[in-house]
Amino acid sequence: MREKIRKIWPELNWIKNEELREKTLDCWVYAIENSVLTIEDLETIPFSLLIKDCKVSFMNHKRTAVQLSADIAKRMIENFGNEIQIDMDLLIAGAILIDVGKLVEYDKVNGELTTSKTGKLLRHPFSGVAIADRFGLPPEVLHMIAYHAKEGDLAKRTVESIIIHHADFVSFEPFKA
Ligand SMILES: [Fe+2]
Repeated sequence: MREKIRKIWPELNWIKNEELREKTLDCWVYAIENSVLTIEDLETIPFSLLIKDCKVSFMNHKRTAVQLSADIAKRMIENFGNEIQIDMDLLIAGAILIDVGKLVEYDKVNGELTTSKTGKLLRHPFSGVAIADRFGLPPEVLHMIAYHAKEGDLAKRTVESIIIHHADFVSFEPFKA
């Protein structure tokens, strides 16, 4: 299982700190083991059930958001220098984990994908924090998961969290009807 997840998430290798990288991977292993989805499903299911005829897969959307987060952060570090502090390791771990809770948001009814009871009661920022806390991810990463979506609009996001939030939305909003 760990090797299969490393394959769909080559960006895990961008995390330099080994402990952080392995904990990030632990979350994905746990989530897929507790999901109705298989790893193969992640490469084929549409990234949103809310978009009609969506042809962009879950993993394509997720990897794009992680890659964009890293690109934005690198450019900001390059251009703003000491005026900004961005922790690349935490940023990448957070970007890989923002939607890990989505894996328990799905249910399969008569072969059709739908939203699970857990998903209806707790959106993935909440279930994602619960999963990441179980594996000892630091509060900076829990923050990024908790506040990446609309629930975080009232919060004061960290710089890493602001980057991830926007990278996630630019790879989502253009597809919305
Ligand atoms: Fe999300």
